[in-house]
Amino acid sequence: MELRALTPFMGMEVRGIDLRQPVGDADFALIRHALNTHSVLLFRDQALAEADHVSFSRRFGPLLTHVLTQFLKEAHPEIYVLSNVVDAGKAIGNHKEGWNWHSDLSYKAEPCLGSLLYAIETPPEGADTLFASMHAAWDALDEDAQQRIRHMKAVHSYAAYYGKAFADRNPLSDEQKAKTPDVAHPLVRTHPETGRLSLYVGEDVVKEIEGLSAGESETLLAELNGHAIDPAFTHRHVWQPGDLIIWDNRSTMHRATPYDDVKYRRVMHRTTVAGDRPF
Ligand code: OGA
Ligand code: MN
Repeated sequence: MELRALTPFMGMEVRGIDLRQPVGDADFALIRHALNTHSVLLFRDQALAEADHVSFSRRFGPLLTHVLTQFLKEAHPEIYVLSNVVDAGKAIGNHKEGWNWHSDLSYKAEPCLGSLLYAIETPPEGADTLFASMHAAWDALDEDAQQRIRHMKAVHSYAAYYGKAFADRNPLSDEQKAKTPDVAHPLVRTHPETGRLSLYVGEDVVKEIEGLSAGESETLLAELNGHAIDPAFTHRHVWQPGDLIIWDNRSTMHRATPYDDVKYRRVMHRTTVAGDRPF
């Protein structure tokens, strides 16, 4: 196994490993350490069955199942499908998921540690995924800005995200709403394994900052969200089928980008690893 930096500030490619085989403890310790310190890991040219994807994901911790149960794989409900493909009148996955900057499941009291996204079918152009280092974003704030927001909390809301991202769809059911109440998280969080600080924001999912007027909250959020995705902290991944990426949701944001969804098919499988309450 060999690791190579993708950018100076975030990301590593892991080569020379076939994730269909059980990963030895020593290699896994290196992978886990690389994830904690480099936030995004890319494994190319994999040929994973659903069960392989799930078992490798489990090495990182217990897996969560998504609230949109219509997009889970029947045999492996740990796998959430992102896709534009409609099969016999039924969408096989959630289309236009994550088309804005976010950290996965930040709307939960205990958001996920990481996500593992595996590319099955990818369009020849478009549909890249952008990643941004929230460690770099925090580090680049000047000290006054850091002091100002250091102890602020923001309200994350799945209903707010869903209402904006999927305005043309059926609204969430009462049961789905009950499973996703709004939650307040610190604007600045500590990586539980390295102690490093990061900015914890998000575009549509973050509704407001506690203790500020609506106007102040909106201004500050726009400022922080704008800062967080400065090209100096972001990396664009161009997918090939067989790519698996795991990202650390405690220290990054990401977003999908558009593609010609009439002409091309995209099928991606995601698993999500349980995490802790941000602090
Ligand atoms: C996700 C996500 C982006 C993409 O899987 O959580 O936001 O490009 N994906 O599909
Ligand atoms: Mn996402």
